[in-house]
Amino acid sequence: MVDKHASLNPGPPTTVVLFGATGDLSKRKLIPGLFRLTTNELLPHLRIVGTSLDDHTQESFLNFARESLAQFEGNISDEEWANFARRLTWAPGGTAKALKKAVAKAEAGLDEPQNRLHYLSVPPQAALAVIKTLDQAGLAEGARIVMEKPFGTDLESARRLNASVHEVFDEEQVFRIDHFLGKEAALNILAFRFANGLFEPIWHRNMIDHIQIDVPEALGLEQRAAFYEATGAYRDMVVTHLLQVMAFTAMEAPTSLAPAAITEEKNKVFRSMLPIGPDDVVRGQYSGYRNEDGVDPESETETFIALRCFVDNWRWAGVPFYLRTGKNMAEGMRIISIAFKEPPKSMFPPGSGIGQSGPDHLTFDLADESKMSLSFYGKRPGPGFRLDKLSMQFSVGETNSSAHVLEAYERLILDAVRGDRTLFTTAAGVERLWEVSKELISDPPPVRPYAKGTWGPNQIHQLIAPRAWRLPFERAWRG
Ligand code: BG6
Repeated sequence: MVDKHASLNPGPPTTVVLFGATGDLSKRKLIPGLFRLTTNELLPHLRIVGTSLDDHTQESFLNFARESLAQFEGNISDEEWANFARRLTWAPGGTAKALKKAVAKAEAGLDEPQNRLHYLSVPPQAALAVIKTLDQAGLAEGARIVMEKPFGTDLESARRLNASVHEVFDEEQVFRIDHFLGKEAALNILAFRFANGLFEPIWHRNMIDHIQIDVPEALGLEQRAAFYEATGAYRDMVVTHLLQVMAFTAMEAPTSLAPAAITEEKNKVFRSMLPIGPDDVVRGQYSGYRNEDGVDPESETETFIALRCFVDNWRWAGVPFYLRTGKNMAEGMRIISIAFKEPPKSMFPPGSGIGQSGPDHLTFDLADESKMSLSFYGKRPGPGFRLDKLSMQFSVGETNSSAHVLEAYERLILDAVRGDRTLFTTAAGVERLWEVSKELISDPPPVRPYAKGTWGPNQIHQLIAPRAWRLPFERAWRG
């Protein structure tokens, strides 16, 4: 295979110990991601120890991995499979002894000492048990761990979880993953803002009317009823992905690209946030949710949420950020939309088309194509002076380097292996987000019904009025 990433130094020799190795995330994202990191030569010296509470053997784990690749990687050659399979070791049962033995087996005969990365693809209750096992097995020292959300369910539980983690691992060893921050398009927000002179001067309350971060999902529960019922849209998507993306959009220029500098600016955004109260929020539940298998027939869990929040600092005071996400909605999209203020005075008369399609906008699409669009009013060709909404659009797919896009998990595993914490969240950041959520969590507004395949309950329009939601788009992206 051609090495598309030859300009990058390969990561250090590493053993990834994958907890929850036979779960859904592992099958869909982690095993394919690890496979690509080896075939791309980004992690040429990788060993993987898989473990979970499922009843597997070395042979059945290999079958699981092969199926995962067949389903999510497509056709891979026998040679590529053989090269990957030789790196896999199964550790049965999850006990300290079995784990220690499996890691020793995986690393036997290697010339150089391996770094160790423990990937905890397990629910929070299980995470603490895993951390204890790692401690008992003597596998914690000098290692890094990747943890999956939810990082607690409120401020108290987040503090307890962080304190328990810190009994075994120092904060520098802990990598809390938020896969939205591993998306190319999320990183492109930083490039766009801080690598150009053009945009930063207008990135300000003087020029910007409001910002929308809109992530509707067409998907439903996907066999995750038990998880979702206890979690809901706010904890599943907002405290994690949407607010993290908001931090990239709102933060000040960091003093450098170093992880600590970026983390500090993100955490300043969180510290500046005003508390989110019940009046700022519309919670929704799609009709039929209570009849889903595994869902309480009287469930008050929200499958949809739209909210307004404020970053109350010099740059953003008074500028509303509108966030929305939900399941079983009309379309799956992930956009950030920056709406600029109207010009102070207009020579264009009513009826000319001015303002007819909302304000001028900058839009980021967080899908893999990493699209951006600047929409503005321009003259309609022909006699008179009529205005149309036009746009300049960009897509990574049009560049020569589109084949280099790393899938979010692939990118973040590589960063964790290299010890680069830039795209990971800290205990302090997570705890602050629970703090601003306190009022909402203790006094949530009622859930409003919405029909599947729509954009949410009607109340969403009052929430944003006199403004309007950008989605559904009036005009589709250019193909
Ligand atoms: C996950 C949530 O973190 O993100 C899911 O638990 C959601 O409910 C998913 O569907 C969305 O991620 P992506 O990358 O598919 O947009």
